[in-house]
Amino acid sequence: MASLAELELRGQEILGREQKAYEAANPKSREAFQHSIRVLPGGVTRTLCFFPPFPCYADYGEGCYFVDIDGNRRLDLFNNATSLILGHRPPAVTKAVRDQLARGTAFQTNTGFETRLAEMLVERVPSVEQIRFTNSGSEGTLMAIRAARAFTGRRKIAKIEGGYHGSHDSVEISVRPPLDSAGPVESPVVVPGSIGITAGVLQDIVLLPYNNLEAARAILTREASQIAGIIVEPILGSVGFIPVEREFLAGLRAEADRHGMIFILDEVQSFRLSRGGGQALFGIRPDLTTFGKIIGGGFPVGAFGGRRDIMALFDASSGEAKIPHAGTFNGNPITMVAGIATLEQLTESVFGGLNTTGDRVRQRLRDLGAKYGVPMQITGIGSMFKIHFTTLPVRDYRSGQQASHVIHEALFMFGLNRGLFLSEGGRCCLSTAMGDAEVEKYLVTVGEFLSVLAQ
Ligand SMILES: Cc1ncc(COP(=O)(O)O)c(C=O)c1O
Repeated sequence: MASLAELELRGQEILGREQKAYEAANPKSREAFQHSIRVLPGGVTRTLCFFPPFPCYADYGEGCYFVDIDGNRRLDLFNNATSLILGHRPPAVTKAVRDQLARGTAFQTNTGFETRLAEMLVERVPSVEQIRFTNSGSEGTLMAIRAARAFTGRRKIAKIEGGYHGSHDSVEISVRPPLDSAGPVESPVVVPGSIGITAGVLQDIVLLPYNNLEAARAILTREASQIAGIIVEPILGSVGFIPVEREFLAGLRAEADRHGMIFILDEVQSFRLSRGGGQALFGIRPDLTTFGKIIGGGFPVGAFGGRRDIMALFDASSGEAKIPHAGTFNGNPITMVAGIATLEQLTESVFGGLNTTGDRVRQRLRDLGAKYGVPMQITGIGSMFKIHFTTLPVRDYRSGQQASHVIHEALFMFGLNRGLFLSEGGRCCLSTAMGDAEVEKYLVTVGEFLSVLAQ
């Protein structure tokens, strides 16, 4: 069996070869990119949309496929960062949006669609008594964190090392810290996600190691009187949808209760796990929940909601709200009707089907790794999965960092040239638009890649 270092060299070779093939097959995307780079830094308006040598430009989407401007048709295994759970252009959603387009796209008043989507979410998620919509998951976590601070009168927020909760200052911290500056495992050090985040912001953040309750408890106890809330996902999404250990989640919940902290569950991504989201699956009742992605039916969205006494901070009906919450496009009717049409299709059995297929994919990937003698760890839960090219188990950010990145890049390019759109970082997810044939196509292509890699 080849060592990981040998496989990385091989991966580098495959990457070079596949990039050349990609350049040859995508001349229109190359031209579009050269045009974009003049007016968009790095040619994109969303960091993760860039990949070398240049990204492909989508022309149209169709079910579980999208076609780029060079006419290449690719199976979409990232679904706009997990948000397109029904795939591209699901007919019922398209119809709802068309109907609403004909009636108006935005109003400085309610339409009732925001009430309907709110009702659907409140019915599905018992911990959510009231909810507010935003335009992104980032805004959802921003407002939930502000609510926790306002409600408790405390300033600090505890978050998980490696946890991604959006792009605002309080959470762009220690998402991908270099391991040499991340401090001890049991007591990680806050590392800003970029320059431009002030020392003042860092002082208000406390970091917790994932799935390590004893260490997390010690940190929370030490800082208890200053911590307003804990924000956590039931999966460590950015590392590879690593499911939280039940005892860890329950332990954090108990610590929050013990110290009067607000427990915020970020379900922006994990809401695709079941009809009631990750909280139903893991049996946890947060004080506040944040949403995004699938609840917008393919349109920009976010939301935060939870306990009525906390959400009352946003109530301006009898004077000034304690926390004003504006937003020109909050509850935009196009997004709301798309969200309603999407949730209407997402029954428990639909989630069950997706999750069963996810289990099958993870098992088949493990089998492929064994067959070709390639060290692979497969993480994920429900309809989300990721391959990590490493011999070591992956259970948190740091163990995820041990995996080879270059082999992933090679797999991504290999897939692109053979009709797959994975994510460069290796995270993938299913949509209901995929059938067995598509799942098979993905697995066969991964198998082909592994056989070339292991040669
Ligand atoms: C768990 C989680 N929270 C928050 C966000 C931010 O959502 P958005 O990209 O809509 O701002 C994301 C986005 O990937 C996410 O995965």
